[in-house]
Amino acid sequence: MMSASAQSRLLVKGGKVVNADRSFEADVFIENGVIVQVGKNLSIPGGTKVIDASGKLVMPGGIDTHTHMQLPFMGTQAIDDFYTGTKAAVAGGTTMIIDFVLDQKGVSLLEAYDKWRGWADPKVCCDYSFHVAVTWWSKQVADEMAELVKNRGINSFKMFMAYKDVFMLDDEDLYDVYKKCKEIGALAMMHAENGDVIAHEQKRMLDLGITGPEGHSMCRPEPVEAEATNRAIMIANTVNCPMYIVHVMSKSAANVIVQARKKGNVVFGEPIAASLGTDGSNYHHKCWRHAAGHVMGPPLRPDPTTPGYLMDLLANGDLDCTGTDNCTFNANQKALGKDNFAKIPNGVNGVEDRMSVIWEKGVHSGKMDENRFVEVTSATAAKIFNIYPQKGLIAPGSDADLIIWDPSATRTISAKTHHQAVDFNIFEGMTCHGVNVCTISRGKVVFEEGKFTVSAGDGKFVPRKPYSNYVYNRIKKRQETFDPKKVERDPYTGPVIQLGGAN
Ligand code: URP
Ligand code: ZN
Ligand code: ZN
Ligand code: ZN
Repeated sequence: MMSASAQSRLLVKGGKVVNADRSFEADVFIENGVIVQVGKNLSIPGGTKVIDASGKLVMPGGIDTHTHMQLPFMGTQAIDDFYTGTKAAVAGGTTMIIDFVLDQKGVSLLEAYDKWRGWADPKVCCDYSFHVAVTWWSKQVADEMAELVKNRGINSFKMFMAYKDVFMLDDEDLYDVYKKCKEIGALAMMHAENGDVIAHEQKRMLDLGITGPEGHSMCRPEPVEAEATNRAIMIANTVNCPMYIVHVMSKSAANVIVQARKKGNVVFGEPIAASLGTDGSNYHHKCWRHAAGHVMGPPLRPDPTTPGYLMDLLANGDLDCTGTDNCTFNANQKALGKDNFAKIPNGVNGVEDRMSVIWEKGVHSGKMDENRFVEVTSATAAKIFNIYPQKGLIAPGSDADLIIWDPSATRTISAKTHHQAVDFNIFEGMTCHGVNVCTISRGKVVFEEGKFTVSAGDGKFVPRKPYSNYVYNRIKKRQETFDPKKVERDPYTGPVIQLGGAN
C-alpha cells in the first residue's frame, strides 16, 4: 500500500507548461496540494504517482469569475447547485469558481454570506470564493461590507442597475456604495442595464402582444446596456473607485469600456462564454424552449458579429477576464414564462464549456495564443481578485490547480453528454478543438479520461484580501491628488440683495 505521504505526491511529466508569460517544457512536482518544483530532471521521492502529459499542455486550472449555483431567482432556484456545478466545472478544466452571495433587499449581508457558505462548503468539488451583492443600502449594509472585507475574505461587491424593485439600486445609492468600496479596498462590480427603461419597455412589448422570448431582447436593446455601462463607470470614477463590468454582452457596451480605459479609468470588462460563443438570433428560434434557453440579462445580441468582436477585444487586452454567469434552469422552470417573457428565469450554462469555447473561438481561430488563453481564463482573474500567484500560475508555491489540455483533440458540446444538471446547452452541437483530459485540484486528480475522482466538499473557500495591487496601486496613487483644492481669495464685501419678504 502507498504511504500517506506518497499519496499526496504527484508528478506531471513530459508536458509543455503554459503560463501567462511563457511556455516551456517542464515536469511539475506536487506535494500536499502545492506545486513544489517545476523543471527538468527533478529528483522525486520514490512511490510518487506519475501522470504522463507528453504531447499535451499543462496549464493553470481555469477561474470562472461569475457563477450562480443554486441561486434562488425569479420564483425558482437554479438547477445546477454547488455540487453539480463545480463537478461540471472540473470536467471542463475549471478549478475555481467565484459565485455570488445574492439575497433580497433588507437581508443582512452577513446572514446571507453565512447562508451561502452553508450551501457551498459541503458541496463544492473545487475551490471557490464569493462576491457579495449589495441590493439595498443603509448604515448596516455599509458596516457589514466592512466586516466582510475585514474578517470574511471578501474583496468584491456586485450591484445591479437592473431588476427594478428586486435588486436594483439608484444612482444616489450607487454613489454611496462605490465610496464605501473605495474606502475598504474592494472592487465594485456592476450589472449594467437601465432597469427603469427595461420595466417600461417590457410593458410596451407585452401590450404589443409580444409574449415570447424575443420580447426579452427587444425590451433591452444594446443602448440600454451601453448607457448603464457608461453611467456605472462615470459614477465610480467620480469617487475614484475601481469598476468591473460583469457579463459584457454587446459591442457598444464593450466600446464604452474601451473608451473609458483610453481615458485612464480603472475599469475592467468581463465577457462571458455565452457572449463569446453564441448570439441573440436564438431568441427568434421557432422552438420556444430553445429561445427561452438563451434568455439571460443582458441578452445575447442580434448582431451575429458580436462574439467575434468581443473575442478580438479580449485577445488584444481591451477586455480582461472571462466568466460564464452560469445560472441554469430546466425547461419546466423556464416555462414559468411561457405566456410572458418577463417571467422566464434569466440565466444560461457555461461553467463546463467556457475553456473549450474560448480555446475554439480564441486560440484555434488564431486570435490569441496559448499564453493569452491562460491570462484570460485564470491569471488576470487571480490578479484582479487578489489571489495571484496562489492561483493562475504554475510555479513553486502556487496551489496545485492545473489541467492537462490536449490541443489536437476535439469534442462536440451537447446537453446529452455534459455533466451539468440542466437539460439544455446553449453551445449544443459546437465542435471544439482543445479538450481537457485531466484536472488536478488541490494537488489531487479529480477528473481523468472522463472519470471523476472527487467528492462533495473536496473544494475549499478561498479568502481574498482587499487592496489588490493590480486594481488598487493606481487608485491609491491617484487618491493623493484626487480631492480638488479650493481657490484662495479675499472674501466679497459688497452689498447682497435680500431674498424673500415683501416685494
Ligand atoms: O441572466 C442572468 N444574468 N442571470 C443571473 C443573474 C445576473 O444578473 O447575473
Ligand atoms: Zn446617499
Ligand atoms: Zn447580472
Ligand atoms: Zn450573474
